[in-house]
Amino acid sequence: MVKVLFVCLGNICRSPTAEGVFMALVESEGLGTDITVDSAGTGSWHIGQPPDRRAQEAARLRGVDLSGQRARQAKAADFQHFDYVIAMDNENHADLASICPPGEEHRLHMFMDFAPELGRKNVPDPYYGGDGGFDGVLDLIEGASKGLLSDIREKHL
Ligand code: 4NP
Repeated sequence: MVKVLFVCLGNICRSPTAEGVFMALVESEGLGTDITVDSAGTGSWHIGQPPDRRAQEAARLRGVDLSGQRARQAKAADFQHFDYVIAMDNENHADLASICPPGEEHRLHMFMDFAPELGRKNVPDPYYGGDGGFDGVLDLIEGASKGLLSDIREKHL
């Protein structure tokens, strides 16, 4: 079983969207028993909350249901459990690096590194922007999800 954790700041916009989109891709490829997916935030403000309604609506329009998810905070032990700990932006990456146990750094990745053809380093935070931001986030997440699945197939399956 390959275990994937997506991490953003609040765990109510980007990482729940990545969890939902990537899980849908995994299931559509018949790999639901080979790969598990979770998400978390580096911050603690939204623990226990469902994804932002704008993120839920944007995902729903692409056939992905985020309503069952609840926010939690990322922790050092996640680096013992997950094969891939995937940051949405540079700030998430730095925060995760600061709690990563020594020797586990190889598990930490930037999500957009799995879609070099898109030429983006970060999945931008849509929380304070208009609703349009969520659609752009979905485009980036769909592209990087395909690249991530290829990486997992190459290295683990
Ligand atoms: P996320 O977006 O990191 O994609 O979940 C945010 C959600 C909440 C906050 C910031 C970003 N916040 O400051 O509360």
